[in-house]
Amino acid sequence: MHCFLLLHLLIVLPKKNYRRLPSKLVCGISTTKSRKLHPYHQKNQPHSTMVVEQYLPPWFSVAPMMEWTDNHYRTVARLVSKHAWLYTEMLAAETIVYQEKNLDRFLAFPPEQHPIVLQIGGSNLENLAKATRLANKYGYDEINLNCGCPSPKVAGHGCFGVTLMLDPKFVAEAMCVIAANTDAPVSVKCRIGVDDHDSYEELCDFIYKVSSLSPTRHFVIHSRKALLNGISPADNRKIPPLKYEYFYALLRDFPDLRFTINGGISSIDEAKGAHGVMVGRAAYHNSWTMLGNVDTAIYGAPPSGVTRRQVLEKYQVYADSVLGIYGNGKPGLRDLVKPLYGLFWGEPGNGVWKRKADAAFHHCKTFKSLMEETIMAIPDSVLDSTVVDTSSTTRVDKFADSKNLLPLPYTAKEEEQQEEEELLFA
Ligand SMILES: Cc1cc2nc3c(=O)[nH]c(=O)nc-3n(C[C@H](O)[C@H](O)[C@H](O)COP(=O)(O)O)c2cc1C
Repeated sequence: MHCFLLLHLLIVLPKKNYRRLPSKLVCGISTTKSRKLHPYHQKNQPHSTMVVEQYLPPWFSVAPMMEWTDNHYRTVARLVSKHAWLYTEMLAAETIVYQEKNLDRFLAFPPEQHPIVLQIGGSNLENLAKATRLANKYGYDEINLNCGCPSPKVAGHGCFGVTLMLDPKFVAEAMCVIAANTDAPVSVKCRIGVDDHDSYEELCDFIYKVSSLSPTRHFVIHSRKALLNGISPADNRKIPPLKYEYFYALLRDFPDLRFTINGGISSIDEAKGAHGVMVGRAAYHNSWTMLGNVDTAIYGAPPSGVTRRQVLEKYQVYADSVLGIYGNGKPGLRDLVKPLYGLFWGEPGNGVWKRKADAAFHHCKTFKSLMEETIMAIPDSVLDSTVVDTSSTTRVDKFADSKNLLPLPYTAKEEEQQEEEELLFA
């Protein structure tokens, strides 16, 4: 059944344009050793013009984060950085399908938010197909499948999130289904392993199968494994150790694919000059410094000169335009103020401002009035200063040790290659 569907999809897949990285920009590691290109890729050469070509490459992206990277946060993020790629929160395919009459609430975004990637979660092929088709008209720049979420709510129910890593052939099918229903490129976000399935070879088998049997050319690697032993999602982002050496070995062993590194990156210095860096928590908790340096330090753009006061003025217009639009006070002032905390991280007045905002939530009726009542807690010097260039000229290579710890090169097992070729040419 699976095989039949996979074959069918491979035949009907549209030809796509998968962008290639300039190899010298790939995190400074040699990628000269070439793996044999699988027939799928030889037969599907790039042709069509993609939306993403209007944008600079995703050298820096903000990670998908449930309840954090919503429209409000992304509005703030885009006011601070013009070039960072922004991921949505994960949206379950089922949510999109069941909310077909209410899609704007879940999928609409203002045009300024490009480049933007929709992350989908799910394991039902029909729903993934339909959800992607419904999302297609919104013009996302890439569609990403979540294969990394360890939440018991997600991973424990019907092979969803990181559990999908245990079934790479199914992921390949899912990626074929997604790709067949969108005009955008597709990508996978995954961990480096799950529980005891944490060898480099198993990770490579996953990457090899998914990339060989589907049009997936881009993988975002959260460089720690997931533990499905009931620990909380937050602990699953802390307890399993980061193994960047797996990431660098993937660059070595799959030079025709594109890999974005994720996990534990907390300053622009660590990301500077690298290709494909995704930052999550640091881009949320300290958005001003982290995102404020992206355009200059990563994309080489001239300083924008933007100040927090200007960001707040523009955000205020957005916030009052969406306040309560979904009824029942949704979104409320709390939802709209939440993404602003990262603008003042570590600055004088931050704590006082948060306390004043907390009190003002009870009586303020508009975002504007809340800001007028509270913003004096933040000194003018903070509000009117531009982003400070925190990138240093002597870059600390956080990954140096990992590059010395690379696992042995991967060789796809003969029988796997044969099996996949039989599938494709049957
Ligand atoms: C609050 C929160 C929600 C998250 N939600 C998602 C999600 O929806 N999809 C996903 O792939 N990863 C999710 N993640 C994981 C992040 O995308 C990222 O992989 C992880 O935080 C490691 O990156 P960091 O160390 O830069 O934060 C979430 C992380 C946080 C903190």
